[in-house]
Amino acid sequence: MKRVLTLFVLASAVTCAAQAASPAIPPAPNGMVFPADYADWQVISISHRVDNHTLRVILGNPVAVKAARAGCTSPWPDGSMLGKVVWKEIAKPTWKKAIVPDRFVHAEFMHKDSKRWAGNGTGWGWARWVGADYKPYGKDASAGQECIACHTPVKGNDWVFTTPAPFPGAE
Ligand code: HEC
Repeated sequence: MKRVLTLFVLASAVTCAAQAASPAIPPAPNGMVFPADYADWQVISISHRVDNHTLRVILGNPVAVKAARAGCTSPWPDGSMLGKVVWKEIAKPTWKKAIVPDRFVHAEFMHKDSKRWAGNGTGWGWARWVGADYKPYGKDASAGQECIACHTPVKGNDWVFTTPAPFPGAE
């Protein structure tokens, strides 16, 4: 019986590991590598887009989160990565007053490297991966121009829309 139990535990561990492993995701047309650890980044803020019914979480890598918590975001330091992960919204089946994430739409990232990305005039690299199969967005490196055009109103805020949400009491 003990042996059967051990085998069962082993089998479930293997299944979990297999689910966690993701296939290699191709880089964006501008050469930005998909940040495969992004689900472990920390939350900077959230947003809810009411016109297209999507929920978004704005995440930062360790460099970006340190800067955000210290209020040192103008400009954001080199090495910062900001991520925006977007899901369609759905009313929570067990409590309809809450809206929660449904289908994954896309994840997009800004990578601050003032030398590497000086060429596009922002100091940020811009890239998006679309759908559950994480297809890189855009045909060539000019794909980032579309991002930059829409982020231009916040050019004076280092091209970033998000104001870090307060986390009172956090160390
Ligand atoms: C139609 C306008 C628009 C376009 C196009 C756009 N963005 Fe944004 N982006 C926004 C807005 C508005 C926010 C603020 C968060 C929110 O409410 O969704 C944002 C937020 C972000 C954030 C979080 C940091 C921040 O600025 O707040 C990242 C990362 C980001 N966008 C990357 C991209 C990338 C990469 C592209 C191009 C592939 C892109 N965006 C294209 C409007 C746009």
